[in-house]
Amino acid sequence: MAEKSFKFVILGGGVAAGYAAREFGKQGVQPGELAIISKEAVAPYERPALSKGYLFPEGAARLPGFHVCVGSGGERLLPEWYKEKGIELILSTEIVKADLPAKTLVSAAGEIFKYQTLIIATGSTVIRLTDFGVQGADAKNIFYLREIDDADKLVEAIKAKKNGKAVIVGGGYIGLELGAAMKINNFDVSMVYPEPWCMPRLFTSSIAAFYEGYYANKGIKIIKGTVAVGFTSDSNGEVKEVKLKDGRVLEADIVVVGVGGRPLSTLFKGQVEEEKGGIKTDAFFKTSVPNVYAVGDVATFPLKLYNELRRVEHVDHARKSAEQAVKAIKASEEGKSVDEYDYLPYFYSRSFDLAWQFYGDNVGDTVLFGDNNPQSPKPKFGSYWIKDGKVVGAFLEGGTAEENQAIAKVAKLQPSVENLDALTNEGLSFACKI
Ligand code: FDA
Ligand code: NAD
Repeated sequence: MAEKSFKFVILGGGVAAGYAAREFGKQGVQPGELAIISKEAVAPYERPALSKGYLFPEGAARLPGFHVCVGSGGERLLPEWYKEKGIELILSTEIVKADLPAKTLVSAAGEIFKYQTLIIATGSTVIRLTDFGVQGADAKNIFYLREIDDADKLVEAIKAKKNGKAVIVGGGYIGLELGAAMKINNFDVSMVYPEPWCMPRLFTSSIAAFYEGYYANKGIKIIKGTVAVGFTSDSNGEVKEVKLKDGRVLEADIVVVGVGGRPLSTLFKGQVEEEKGGIKTDAFFKTSVPNVYAVGDVATFPLKLYNELRRVEHVDHARKSAEQAVKAIKASEEGKSVDEYDYLPYFYSRSFDLAWQFYGDNVGDTVLFGDNNPQSPKPKFGSYWIKDGKVVGAFLEGGTAEENQAIAKVAKLQPSVENLDALTNEGLSFACKI
């Protein structure tokens, strides 16, 4: 089999890979020096579009419209951009073996790729219900959503099962975004999740109550405190019913499952230090193996602001960690260094006419402010998290660009607060005056 050799290889062709390529382009890269190896068939794109605009019944987002870096207002890198720069896009190529001491990657088809410096950007994969042996979970029309191929299959099924019944399993990001997407497509939607409220990793019960109320007003049925324990299918093998642990049975033409992700680090097990489920890095995204970097969802990195190692599964960090790693690589070539990564966590989501942003850390006491009535024509509300007398996190639904910037500033500067009641009354104006 042919062997190809590159100075730099980025393994993975997702968000982090695309932003890393752009940074290589900015810093200067010689033709033939850099390759991106991806099991996906398309150049890096903004993955968040898959659960939002990609599923719109009309005017849906399609490639090449959302290749990176449009999601952050940057230049759109079309396949030609890589060609012009002499960056090799090696697509539809899954790496099945990595030998870090030998600096070699091997694809499913047996191709061998050598590198001097490797950037691991393999992202996450979905947790499947078949992983914990849920009966019938391999029926047709049970979907997961991670890559564009998954989204295409879902779009086909939405067309085939027009105005049908959809059951969404999971009350996290995918659950909430897909519940809305299926409703917009005129499906009769039920959502099922085990926790007492949706998005429990981030939302307080008061924040969740707003979204659950809003979804209920849209006609979405929410079933909490139970899980899917089995599926029945028809004679074509297509899913027909979802059986719940509490004994209820829901009819379904389409099931979408979003029960969490898992970082894709298996190729490197035993070859590199791991921490908190990811590949451990320093503040420059260097791993324990020389000349091997890890960025995006797979990296467990020092979050300087909280003096703690963390993994972050969101797009803003995927972009920024990739840029940081490439800057560090290029600086080290000249014997220079760059500043340590100093990240302020930033998550967001959009569904229906809603849009929220969160900055910082969701620990400590919380206060809720604003109008969180799901019936309001223009709801705008938020929450602060207060730890050791300081505001450490802030959430805002329905904010303007300036207001979102204000809550970001609060989370970064961590101002002191003495009186939580006063903070509740001040609400958003507290952030806007910082
Ligand atoms: P990413 O998953 O983007 O890319 C990994 C790439 O590696 C893929 O191309 C994959 O095929 C490839 N790969 C993996 N193993 C391989 C192998 N062995 N060989 C070859 N290629 C391999 N975040 C947010 O902040 N706001 C949002 O609205 C959303 N929305 C959203 C929607 C959906 C549907 C998903 C799935 C995720 C989001 N996210 C999000 C999360 C965000 O998209 C995610 O954190 C980033 O895409 C992570 O970027 P990475 O580059 O690390 O992985
Ligand atoms: P998640 O961790 O956000 O949510 C998982 C949810 O699954 C839990 O909240 C729980 O309600 C539910 N759950 C767990 N076990 C279950 C079971 N047996 N039955 C029913 N429900 C169960 O994960 P996700 O929503 O699957 O998202 C996957 C990945 O994609 C994550 O990395 C996420 O950050 C990313 N993503 C992010 C965004 C965003 O940032 N806006 C949007 C989509 C996806």
